[in-house]
Amino acid sequence: MTLDASILKDMTLAEKIGQLTMVTAGYATTGPIVAGDVTGALREGRIGSLFNLWGRDAIRAAQRVAVEETRLGIPLFFGLDVIHGFRTIFPTPLAQAGAFDEDLWERAAASAAAEAADAGIDLTFTPMLDVARDPRWGRSVEGPGEDPLVGARFARAQVRGLQGDDFAGEGRLAACAKHFVAYGAVTAGRDYAPVDISRRTLEEVYLPPFRAAVEAGVATLMPAFTDLDGIPFTAHRAMITGRLREEWGFDGVVISDFGAIGELIRHGVAADLAEAAALALNAGVDIDMMAGAYEKGLPEALERGLVTVATLDAAVTRVLGLKERLGLFADPYRRCRGEGTEDAEGKGGRRRLAREAGRRALVLLKNEGGLLPLGEGARRIAVIGPLADAAVEMIGPWASDGKRAPAVSVLAGLREVFPRAEIVHAEGVPLTQDGTDGIAAAVDAARDADCVILCVGEAAEMSGEAASRTKIDLPGSQSALLDAVAATGKPLVVLLFSGRPLAVPEMFERAGAVIACGFPGSEAGHAIADVIIGREGPTGRLPTTWPRHVGQVPIFLAERSGGRPENPADKYTSKYLDMPNSPLFPFGAGLGYGEVVFADLKADVGEAIEASVTVANRGSRADEAVVFLFVRDPVASVARPVLELKDFRRVALAAGETRTIAFRLGREDLTFLDMRLEPVFEGGAFEILIGPSADRARLLSATVRFG
Ligand code: BGC
Repeated sequence: MTLDASILKDMTLAEKIGQLTMVTAGYATTGPIVAGDVTGALREGRIGSLFNLWGRDAIRAAQRVAVEETRLGIPLFFGLDVIHGFRTIFPTPLAQAGAFDEDLWERAAASAAAEAADAGIDLTFTPMLDVARDPRWGRSVEGPGEDPLVGARFARAQVRGLQGDDFAGEGRLAACAKHFVAYGAVTAGRDYAPVDISRRTLEEVYLPPFRAAVEAGVATLMPAFTDLDGIPFTAHRAMITGRLREEWGFDGVVISDFGAIGELIRHGVAADLAEAAALALNAGVDIDMMAGAYEKGLPEALERGLVTVATLDAAVTRVLGLKERLGLFADPYRRCRGEGTEDAEGKGGRRRLAREAGRRALVLLKNEGGLLPLGEGARRIAVIGPLADAAVEMIGPWASDGKRAPAVSVLAGLREVFPRAEIVHAEGVPLTQDGTDGIAAAVDAARDADCVILCVGEAAEMSGEAASRTKIDLPGSQSALLDAVAATGKPLVVLLFSGRPLAVPEMFERAGAVIACGFPGSEAGHAIADVIIGREGPTGRLPTTWPRHVGQVPIFLAERSGGRPENPADKYTSKYLDMPNSPLFPFGAGLGYGEVVFADLKADVGEAIEASVTVANRGSRADEAVVFLFVRDPVASVARPVLELKDFRRVALAAGETRTIAFRLGREDLTFLDMRLEPVFEGGAFEILIGPSADRARLLSATVRFG
């Protein structure tokens, strides 16, 4: 069967609305299933796509109903949140962002896509591209961090990895950029809360990753649950039809978030489902995920003249077009025939990649006296804490089918790499509850060891959707465990697992070494053990500013100066009475096992600004650096941020190696939005700053005149 444009003429209203209706599968103890009432609705052509169903058998059975038992035989497509892996889980996206490595981002996304496609999936609700500057917001963990440039590169790499050149291709998925847009700016970091930001911030900070995804050809897009200035995105015609489709030329499908069309009533912009459905459809939302609003509301909306058949037909045409592009009209069973084709070799390669990605997400934030790596000779190691032997926690939130794949705990990983060492394990305290009974045993274990590896942090479910926190600290009694173990005076390495930066300065004071791990995924224990023993170095960098205290948030590198920038000697400047403005760690922070030195900044001006630095590894071990290029435009018609990230480059350096890294900045890179929010380039002085992080004290800088 091929898609015949005349099919629309044969469709009843209910069948058209069915194509715009997406519902979730249910769950049985054996896995996801299609519930009886869903099968009935499928048979009647009232459902156009399903999500949360996987496995070839289950998908084939549902597809058979659509293709063989409905009047028109239009195939379904099957969606799933493959956020950071399907069964083999890669690091949480925020942790992956810390690799600052587009090639790795793309390879991880491609690998996850292949595994999910093999289980019958056509489309994933990924990438999540919400810039996040407030770590209270639990969904920070799903996205690329605080910076729009990083977000845009992450978007491109993920779309390329998931979709390849053709998302119908073998092992590829149609991607869905979400949540359009500015969801990360929810009030007070509270999930689903309203968003009130300036137009400038919307344009400069939150939109660029989505634009990059559209330019990379993303197949679908999902509006955010939230509103902007009182207009819910699910009803935002100016943003969806205007910006996305007309201005950016997006020709894909817009899928609502879960139940979001029905929520237009609670937002207070629709009186009933007919109005809600009309608002969403008129805004340009093609598919209703789980609200039942199109099914229940559109017939009445048509009768009341709130929507036209032409608008409905346009949405149906887009959805059928997506199915055609997915190759489903040509072969509805293309992804669900027979058994999975994944051979052991493919799975082995995926585990290896997960181990590499897990390692590259690790950010070494402190390493006093070169405590790490421990080296092959370590003898007695105490592995302590509620996350030491917690394999399933390592995969983090949003892990599709990940719980069915074996994950490697820190303890298991360390036992493998240190076969001759005496490794003692003590949990110490529960993960989230209070309880100090186990601390004494943990302290005994620490006393008997040469070195302590303390595994603390959040439970996986403390970040992700509906997981905002007002306290961004160690849950339960973990601080008491930290204090007690630190008091033994034994060399202390802390492995911190979390979906967000945790504001725990005292932990950084007490530990000799700290690695921020995010949630490294299925291969966590192996990835971490590789770095602890020193077979590999830690190479991650923070993709987000790390606060000292929750009272500092939102906190990010690209603030404007204001008229009274912080001056400790002057009370009437922008600061707190009780704490400096500076973060605990700046964006980009992260150490390696080498000794990388930045020098010789040069900046010449011609057609463009040509800037370069030398990066030398003076240490005795190979290392990698991420070279960040920031700009400050000190005088412009509109005040510009004190630092704006314009480029970054990852470089590998052998021991003793020096490399020159060159950057080029043209007018387009220095263009900003003027008072009317029109793009403008204003020539004049520009400060060029290059270095290992956004810490001003460590940046080399030169001022040039350009334009
Ligand atoms: C989330 C989306 C997700 C959808 C489907 C919603 O609750 O906000 O990110 O894609 O559920 O699982």
